[in-house]
Amino acid sequence: MSNNGHPGLATPTRVRRALPAPDHPGLSDARLLPDPAFAAAWNAVILPDGDKNKIAQTAAAGFVQRSSVEFERLPLHGIILLVGPPGTGKTTLARGLADRLAKLIPHIGQFAYLEINPHTLASSSLGRSQQAVQQLFDTTIAETAANGPLVVLIDEVETIATDRGQLSFDANPADVHRAVDAALVGLDRIARTHRHVLFIATSNFPEAIDGALLSRADLIVPVDLPTLGARRVILEDTITALAEAFPKARRLLDDRVLDRAATASEGLDGRRLRKVIVAAAGRNPASTVDPSEITPEDLLTAIAETTKEIQ
Ligand SMILES: Nc1ncnc2c1ncn2[C@@H]1O[C@H](COP(=O)(O)OP(=O)(O)OP(=O)(O)O)[C@@H](O)[C@H]1O
Ligand SMILES: [Mg+2]
Repeated sequence: MSNNGHPGLATPTRVRRALPAPDHPGLSDARLLPDPAFAAAWNAVILPDGDKNKIAQTAAAGFVQRSSVEFERLPLHGIILLVGPPGTGKTTLARGLADRLAKLIPHIGQFAYLEINPHTLASSSLGRSQQAVQQLFDTTIAETAANGPLVVLIDEVETIATDRGQLSFDANPADVHRAVDAALVGLDRIARTHRHVLFIATSNFPEAIDGALLSRADLIVPVDLPTLGARRVILEDTITALAEAFPKARRLLDDRVLDRAATASEGLDGRRLRKVIVAAAGRNPASTVDPSEITPEDLLTAIAETTKEIQ
């Protein structure tokens, strides 16, 4: 390692944090932050003006305060819940937020990121899901949290924190109840012992989430269908991305076309909105093979058809 020619000076090296493998049991991702793919996710999510920054700053403030003040006096659990209809950008926002946090408060240390795979946890045979949940919180998450700041994404949190009041013992083995208990106990333990952890949970079904988790959330962020302004930006961004590969598609970036398309697409979520361009391309043989042939009329017709489908 170079020391700039001064034999006595050690060059400071940043030791890479140890991480579990991304496919470790119970996980679907593990990486260090910041991460360019997550920065792109942050930029891709369009929310009403100022909302993203407010969420990021609130998350960062909570992180800083939790790191320095004991739980009994500042009972923040380090849980942010993003709730809203499918396709509104919750998962993308969560990943982007993790990256943003690592950049806003780098002095806390190098951030790590884990993503929980709720389905592998919820689908074990009798007695195993409780064990899997316990193992995940008490070993995998706790060990990663012990060596620096950590963000954990629990996507579709209702699958591991299912409202116990709605679970019938006839239809669900006792293990499902025990697995939910284990998740809540695990979250509590991490909240008290590892103050450098933020859980970001997402859900389409807040009514299916156990009340104990809801009451532990420091911040519940509703992520709604995109507004008129947001729809226009999402369409513009999707067409701009397409035009990077097929430059003639830029002609769809006409103010009048975008205004009409944004107005006509009321009720569409961000995912459908981005995909409507593909539906427009499929409307005639020329644009099927060359998307730069998409006409404004095809775009508007595709939007009208997609909007009708969801009614
Ligand atoms: N508000 C938005 N702004 C920009 N793009 C969006 C928005 N909402 C959704 N998208 C796009 O739609 C796709 C799906 O988003 P994502 O998976 O984050 O949604 P979600 O809310 O987590 O959906 P689900 O509830 O079904 O899991 C992504 O490509 C994302 O960029
Ligand atoms: Mg999602």
